[in-house]
Amino acid sequence: MIRKAVIPAAGFGTRFLPLTKAQPKEMLPIVDTPAIQFVVEEAVASGITDILMVIGKSKRSIEEYFDRNYELESELKAKAKDVLLNQVREISNMANIHFVWQKKLNGLGDAVWHARNHVGNESFALLLGDTVLESYSDVPITRQLIDVYDQFSGSVVALEQVPESKVSQYGIVGGAEVAPGVYQVDEFIEKPTIEEAPSDLAFAGRYIFQPDIFDYLSQTQRGKNNEIQLTDAMQAMVESRPMFACKVNGKRHDLGNRIDFIKTNIHYALKDPEMRDDIVAYMKKVGSPFGIE
Ligand code: G1P
Repeated sequence: MIRKAVIPAAGFGTRFLPLTKAQPKEMLPIVDTPAIQFVVEEAVASGITDILMVIGKSKRSIEEYFDRNYELESELKAKAKDVLLNQVREISNMANIHFVWQKKLNGLGDAVWHARNHVGNESFALLLGDTVLESYSDVPITRQLIDVYDQFSGSVVALEQVPESKVSQYGIVGGAEVAPGVYQVDEFIEKPTIEEAPSDLAFAGRYIFQPDIFDYLSQTQRGKNNEIQLTDAMQAMVESRPMFACKVNGKRHDLGNRIDFIKTNIHYALKDPEMRDDIVAYMKKVGSPFGIE
């Protein structure tokens, strides 16, 4: 049973400067909700009860966000704003959330390494804090991966098919399809050139790991961008045991880049019945190229 999750939220967010100079990218709003809340909700809906966030400099507001705010609660209570009061309380009650600080930014592999004591000898889920994955079914994405993990008894990474132009932005897998949408992996490669890439199947920010990923991380040298790459540890691991990858039934919203941030906000605003008509009318007025009927 997978009950622990690790959420790294330590990266600088250079693609979103200047905002990210003093504001975590994980706190970027999707309409009125920070991205990281969607990530925590996905974990909880997938059966996770214990979450460790790996945070770094300028990320203190994440800790505050998941803490109780008694002053705000009593203010909302006094004003009988019950819906808001419940919403605000819920945020700090969603799961047991712990924090560990990554003091120096040495890459995703190093951020995950910081979770080793907390995770111990259990399999765990890893969810990137700046990536929202919207499921097309009732089954949250992390749960979809847990189901594959249960069936195949090996670590699993979520996949999304990407256009060729995006292959060099992601970790990419090579392998053979062993069940519909499930691959037994023979290669993990971080941000390959199009010539190097074994496929167009990219990691989508969700993973299930057996705890021995930490043994491989402990031996991983600096790789691409002079960082400790999680992907390199995964490649070392797949050389000695079966690992899997699974195309997810859903869509990635990568909040860490400007264009996807805007698109994600429009997407979620259009899903909100209170906003939809206004947004559609606005887009028509500004000469919408968005193809809205
Ligand atoms: C990280 C991982 C990469 C993955 C990507 C999105 O890269 O290293 O393998 O594909 O997240 O899930 P980053 O976007 O932090 O450079």
